[in-house]
Amino acid sequence: MIRLLYLSNRTPTISDEQVYDILVSARRNNPINSITGILIHGGGLFMQVLEGPEQEVLRQYVKILNDHRHSNPQILHISPTNNRIFEKWSMGAIDGDPLQFQYISELRARRLEVIEAKTFTDTMREFVKRLTAAK
Ligand SMILES: Cc1cc2nc3c(=O)[nH]c(=O)nc-3n(C[C@H](O)[C@H](O)[C@H](O)COP(=O)(O)O)c2cc1C
Repeated sequence: MIRLLYLSNRTPTISDEQVYDILVSARRNNPINSITGILIHGGGLFMQVLEGPEQEVLRQYVKILNDHRHSNPQILHISPTNNRIFEKWSMGAIDGDPLQFQYISELRARRLEVIEAKTFTDTMREFVKRLTAAK
């Protein structure tokens, strides 16, 4: 299994309904492909974690790359893993607008550094905790 995290810019002209359509596709397709994860959007950005079998995650990521609802996708982290952070979510969604996107910018700033698997997992768990607490 692998876990992949990327950031992209939401196409400014797309509506919230079109973002919702993404979730509908994800929730339809991801269980079939054993993919779980989370999609966070806000501040003109998407951040998504995809976790699952390597072939499935990469195949889905390639599809996502060509999607015109976003641009400039950048992989921030990719690593082999044995356990899922988002095991209950075929694709969790969080509208990050009211939240601070500081965490995400921090991750982006670290893009060129190697983020260790453990650091990443801890960061994501902490992130999810914050998001859940903010709800
Ligand atoms: C930011 C972003 C995240 C996406 N995440 C997923 C996803 O997790 N699963 C998925 O099936 N499609 C996702 N999509 C949509 C895919 O690009 C593509 O439209 C979809 O896989 C096509 O599915 P379909 O052939 O069933 O219509 C995402 C698109 C964007 C822009």
